[in-house]
Amino acid sequence: MRDTAAFIAEVFLPTVAKGPIKRRPRMEAAAERFGLDARAVARMQKLSRTYPEGPLLLRLPFRKQAVALHPSEVHLVLENSPDPFSPASSEKRGALAHFEPRNVLISTGGERSARRALQEQALDAHSPVHHLARHFLPVINEEAGHLIAGLAEEKQLDWEQFSGAWDRVVRRIVFGNNAADDVDLTAKLTRLRKDANWSSLKPMRSTTRAAFLSTVRQRMLAAEPGSLAHSLKAHDGSPKTAPADQIPQWLFAFDPAGMATFRTLALLASHGPQLQSVRLELSRDASEHHHLPYLRACVLESLRLWPTTPMILRQTIREVQWPHGMMPGNCGVLVFAPYFHRDVRALPGAELFQPELWIGQGPDHSPDLALVPFSEGPVRCPGRQLVLMLTSAFLAQLVERTDFLLNEPKRLEPTEPLPANLNPFSLSFTLHPREGR
Ligand code: HEM
Repeated sequence: MRDTAAFIAEVFLPTVAKGPIKRRPRMEAAAERFGLDARAVARMQKLSRTYPEGPLLLRLPFRKQAVALHPSEVHLVLENSPDPFSPASSEKRGALAHFEPRNVLISTGGERSARRALQEQALDAHSPVHHLARHFLPVINEEAGHLIAGLAEEKQLDWEQFSGAWDRVVRRIVFGNNAADDVDLTAKLTRLRKDANWSSLKPMRSTTRAAFLSTVRQRMLAAEPGSLAHSLKAHDGSPKTAPADQIPQWLFAFDPAGMATFRTLALLASHGPQLQSVRLELSRDASEHHHLPYLRACVLESLRLWPTTPMILRQTIREVQWPHGMMPGNCGVLVFAPYFHRDVRALPGAELFQPELWIGQGPDHSPDLALVPFSEGPVRCPGRQLVLMLTSAFLAQLVERTDFLLNEPKRLEPTEPLPANLNPFSLSFTLHPREGR
């Protein structure tokens, strides 16, 4: 019982308080000030020592809930999704119903298969360079260019300016140029995502949800050739695939991608040798920023150090036999990514910035590690390749043209363990144009 209480107090509550669906800036700031993720990781390490055979079944009066404690359990759960480990867990269904009730993430059976196939096709999930890259990259170049030009006088970059540019990128890539200025759509989604932080504890804002989903449908029908949504327009629109309802997840998930990009910029601003490697890669790049493996690895490192999906959730659809006991049906299973990503026992230098980790075969195939920023197995994020392509191309534009100095350099000392929390909303940079650019 004490272990359950400690887990709830030190791991679960601080993570949920930060806002699982829409981050709460004040809670992010508090988490960084009090080093809450470091405490969570330490608690998980302690639990894993106490229980060498996981997963740990918590003693909760109101629900059956297990927590993965060892990498082998993570791999088993994620590889055996969606059956018997369904991603459509009760709390996720409660949360996502606020803005995407028919999305693949909370679908089951034949609907899940059809929606997943549609997502993989539209996002070009298995290709490092998306087939629409030639349309996307000019958008990135233009928006990054405008962002830097707009900072010429002040020479200061903060989250608000960065995210404004990033949001435009997202709307243009998802729907085309005609949606570039539709800040109202983003604002409506933000409202609904804030509710979603409370899962089913918050009553549904049915009118706002209907208005939001209707705008998404209209935008999909008006989507321009060369945009992500355009490929869905041609689809038959059957309720089984629910094409328009797959789009809110894109709009939503590009938001954490922006945070990861901003944190990567902070890592590069504070890690000279890695920045040099990036610039070397850019100087030799023949792909016009379509494929930048080292810069992609830097983004993956930012996501390892500060995963934007810290809790990967599953729920058993029947009993599951483990070597050391039976897990009941309808049991939640939680993978707490920061613990696996930062466990120095499994990964030497886990608290340092090491892009090399992701070069070549990468850590995906190591059974002793569970580095899962995009999850793994059949439910793995189908946007992974697209995200890495777009974020690396955006960063390339920024660091090629400008030197960025972190305004509070002490937050990221290259020789010290990197902090377990890094609040992206409070990062800011001073810009210096690079000579000859
Ligand atoms: C930093 C950016 C992102 C990260 C770290 C990320 C990570 C994840 C994770 C951890 C999952 C859950 C998988 C699971 O439960 O096992 C997921 C699901 C998903 N992501 Fe992403 N994601 C990102 C951005 C995106 C973007 C930009 C898109 C689309 C444009 C996208 C599309 C999806 C979809 C459709 C799913 C549901 C997959 C399914 O249920 O089969 N993601 N993502």
